[in-house]
Amino acid sequence: MPEDAEKIHRGLVGVYFDRTKTTYIDGKKGILEYRGYSIHDLAENSSFEETSYLLLHGKLPSISELDNFNKDLINSRSISGEIIDIIRSVKGSHPMDVLRTSVSALAAFDEEAGDKSYEATLRKGVRLTAQVPTIVMAHNSIRNNNDLIEPNQSLSHAANFLYMLDGNIPSESTSKLLDKDFILHADHGSNASAFAARVCAGTQADLHSAVTTGIAVLSGPSHGGAAENVMKMVKEVGSPENAKAYVTNLLKNKERVMGFGHRVYKSQDPRAGHLRDGVEALSHEKGEPSWYEILVGVMDAMKPYQRRGIHVNVDFFAGVIYHLLGIPTDLFVPIFAVGRIPGWTIQVLEQYEHNILLRPLLQYTGEHQKEYIPIENRK
Ligand code: COA
Repeated sequence: MPEDAEKIHRGLVGVYFDRTKTTYIDGKKGILEYRGYSIHDLAENSSFEETSYLLLHGKLPSISELDNFNKDLINSRSISGEIIDIIRSVKGSHPMDVLRTSVSALAAFDEEAGDKSYEATLRKGVRLTAQVPTIVMAHNSIRNNNDLIEPNQSLSHAANFLYMLDGNIPSESTSKLLDKDFILHADHGSNASAFAARVCAGTQADLHSAVTTGIAVLSGPSHGGAAENVMKMVKEVGSPENAKAYVTNLLKNKERVMGFGHRVYKSQDPRAGHLRDGVEALSHEKGEPSWYEILVGVMDAMKPYQRRGIHVNVDFFAGVIYHLLGIPTDLFVPIFAVGRIPGWTIQVLEQYEHNILLRPLLQYTGEHQKEYIPIENRK
């Protein structure tokens, strides 16, 4: 065995690669803070817009600062005809692929695309935060052969997102629930997509490149895909009394139960409880309580796994909420991206501020000194 084998940290588990002043996570105690503020206070009292300001500027805004920030977001919601054409040309792809392609293309139409100054990157982060929901919903309209729904300037970020789904102004309670979901997803330390965005920024690539990278990495089922897979699972379970047998069967086949486990949280994911309350209320409000009951059945069946540090995570509840809000299943991951743009932006800004190329090593375990045989002599 090579001398330095013990130095390998597969998956970079437990490795600190830099410092941050943005998000604090204590996985053992189940604590999450943005800029020193508890996620519980933000989920209960803040809005996605205010939380985005907090992440990007490092402090809670005054009334006028929030007002100006809101105006910047609202004024940046529209996307150009060229981007709509690009969406049309790839409309048959998965919405995450469409989003990745469109965000990459946005760079071509953003005058500040190549400007990596702090101020320009911050402005681009605000623009991307505003444009991404419009891209997601424009694609949804286009693929369903419906007319495009222009963003509604009088609505909040979350309410406007729901509005662009079907042109109906959503109720305050549903807007608030989605707003909370966006707050809970706004940043999460060095998760895979933020790390990938930092690797990209570490080469001094621009924000559109880094966010495109983040979207690509988020699309995998071990990261952003969990909510979509939870919904598939819940549909397969079908009714609450099937939950136990379904989960037992999955575990017997060494398969993973979606919406459980987390690389960092080995106790309760502090975000999960906020959505649990929301899904319970919403499933009763919509007259479909069985969805919530199936979730409870799956949680009961997974209780023995808590001893191994496998608890329910935020995505377990998110999927059923989106479903009850009438959002198609393949838009669940893009919704995660909608909430995560401020997080990726601030992480890229932090990376630029104190930049270093992120370039770990791979320990070679292949062969050496092999003889090169000309192609005509090979068997
Ligand atoms: N269901 C069943 N078993 C699980 C599990 C799950 N959801 N998550 C982890 N485990 C088990 C693994 O099988 C493994 O068991 P083993 O030691 O007997 O082989 C052990 O727990 C450790 O798993 P590992 O993949 O090394 O942990 P991780 O910290 O790298 O995994 C996730 C984190 C998120 C990738 C993993 O928990 C998972 O795949 N969860 C389901 C997908 C999901 O909900 N993702 C959203 C995260 S917010």
